[in-house]
Amino acid sequence: MRIAVFRKAHFNAAHRLYNADWTPEKNLEVFGPCSNPNYHGHNYELEVKVAGEVDPVTGFLIDLKILKQIIKEEVEDRFDHKNFNLDTPYFKEKNPTSENICVLIHDLLSKRLGSEFELTVRLWETPRNYVEYPA
Ligand code: NI
Repeated sequence: MRIAVFRKAHFNAAHRLYNADWTPEKNLEVFGPCSNPNYHGHNYELEVKVAGEVDPVTGFLIDLKILKQIIKEEVEDRFDHKNFNLDTPYFKEKNPTSENICVLIHDLLSKRLGSEFELTVRLWETPRNYVEYPA
């Protein structure tokens, strides 16, 4: 029996989107207020979908306290109250857009969950805008 479980999480983090090869005007044109040189924060909302087969012995797809702990360690402890540009080496050369953050979170969680689960990550940067990976 194939089924999906969902777990939500939340973190606050700062970022700046810019291209060092561009002028401040061009950065503002492309990235808008997210190009502010002094950074700014977002209240990120995360939804993790895990799909797979129910274990006939436990009746679980995945033990939710284990999923909760993995999300805490890989996402909340790593990113909450941090600056993506300054605190995360992955974003040294890459813009911390919602798209890139979502892919990174997917990769971090995938490594912990194992291949028997199909993982989908949704990340809200604002209450109205979210991205999903894989598409
Ligand atoms: Ni922003």
